[in-house]
Amino acid sequence: MNFDKILDYLKENLSEERFKHTIGVAETAKELAKVYNCDCEKAYFAGLLHDIAKEKSLEEMQDIVSRHFSDLDEMTLTSKALLHSVAGACLSKELFDIDNDIFDAILYHTTGKADMSLFTKIIYMADYIEPMRDFLGVEEVRKLAFKDIDLAIIKSCGNVIIHTVNKGQAVHPNTVDARNYLLMNNRGAAENGKK
Ligand SMILES: [Fe+2]
Ligand SMILES: [Fe+2]
Repeated sequence: MNFDKILDYLKENLSEERFKHTIGVAETAKELAKVYNCDCEKAYFAGLLHDIAKEKSLEEMQDIVSRHFSDLDEMTLTSKALLHSVAGACLSKELFDIDNDIFDAILYHTTGKADMSLFTKIIYMADYIEPMRDFLGVEEVRKLAFKDIDLAIIKSCGNVIIHTVNKGQAVHPNTVDARNYLLMNNRGAAENGKK
C-alpha cells in the first residue's frame, strides 16, 4: 500500500475535521495493535482508510457498494451513517488493493458484528476512543480498551444501543449481535456483567 497516495486521497476527499479524526484513529489503532500483538502498520493503514467514503453523498455510496454487494439490508442501504463503512471498504479495495483483514475492519467499524477478529475489534475501538472523541463515558472505555478490548466493546456497543434508542432510531442488529456474542463467549465479561 502506498502511504503517500492514501494521504493525498484523504486530503482531497475529507474535511479538515474528518482528516484529524482519521489520523487519530490510525494512531490509536497502532497503539492498540501494539498492546494486543497485532500488525501495527496494518492497523495504522486500516485506521487511515476507515472513513474514506464518509463525505460522499448517499447516492455515491450506493453506487460504490452496488459494484460489490447485491444483498445489503435496507437499513444499511438507506443510512449514510451505516453505509459509509461498506462504501469505505469497497472504495479502499478498488483504490488501494487492501487485504481481507482491512476490508472487514472497515466494513464493520460502525456497527461491529458477532465474532469479530482481533484486527476488526481494534479498528472498531480506535474509532470509538480516538483522542478527539469527547462524550459521556468515553474515558471509561478509553482506559478499558487497553486492558480488555472485549469488555470495552461490550461497553461501547451498550452505549451506542442506549444512545440510538434514546434518539428514537433503529439499532442495527450487528451491534446487538456484537455485544451479545462477547457477553456469551467471554468469561471475564460474563463475570463482570453479574457484578
Ligand atoms: Fe466511520
Ligand atoms: Fe471514524
